Amino acid sequence: MGFGVVGAWLKATVRMLARGVKVSMGLLVLASALAHGHDASVWNLKEENATWRAECGSCHMAYPPQMLAATDWLLIMSQLDKHFGTDASLEQARRDEITNFLDRNGAGRSSHTGPGLPRITDSDRFIDKHQSAIRLWRKGKVKLLSDCLACHAGAAPGS
Ligand code: HEC
Ligand code: HEC
Repeated sequence: MGFGVVGAWLKATVRMLARGVKVSMGLLVLASALAHGHDASVWNLKEENATWRAECGSCHMAYPPQMLAATDWLLIMSQLDKHFGTDASLEQARRDEITNFLDRNGAGRSSHTGPGLPRITDSDRFIDKHQSAIRLWRKGKVKLLSDCLACHAGAAPGS
């Protein structure tokens, strides 16, 4: 393995420590699996948008558009005043710009069911890739599954 892989692994681990995630043996194994199996496509966007990065990245990371279907994003964008228990309302021009960006860049198939807003962490795609992370979360060793950067440290723009 090259320096890049070791670097990414170290970064992920240091990031978890910095965020107070208890780094157990399980999590170290997880971090090294992550450093080895990284598929850059979801994080390397085909299209950038500064408005989206700024507005949708101010409370949490700007989640990769490919992690939800375009229809899921439209649902989220239509209810920003009731956004997962908080008010994330935007002025119309900015909202329209972000809505169009997410509509163009979202994935095709939605696995969302039920009355609430779609969550990435509830999607089939996420669950399928995060069996071991979900196990650690259930044991309380991972605080928040939606905190992507706690584990995907290299996914931050410019890192
Ligand atoms: C005012 C703060 C705030 C802003 C601004 C904001 N969000 Fe959120 N967002 C939240 C909170 C709080 C949650 C719920 C966190 C949790 O329970 O995991 C959340 C959750 C989400 C989730 C679900 C994550 C999961 O659990 O899978 C998505 C998707 C999302 N936001 C998208 C967006 C988009 C798109 C924008 C920009 C239009 C945006 N957010 C702007 C606060 C915000
Ligand atoms: C607790 C750690 C953890 C958290 C939090 C986490 N992931 Fe992951 N994720 C992993 C691991 C470990 C893998 C590798 C699984 C494998 O290869 O078997 C992975 C794999 C993935 C993959 C497939 C491989 C790749 O890198 O493209 C995607 C996409 C992904 N995660 C996106 C996300 C997103 C988006 C979030 C936040 C909503 C997130 N993850 C939160 C640990 C985490």
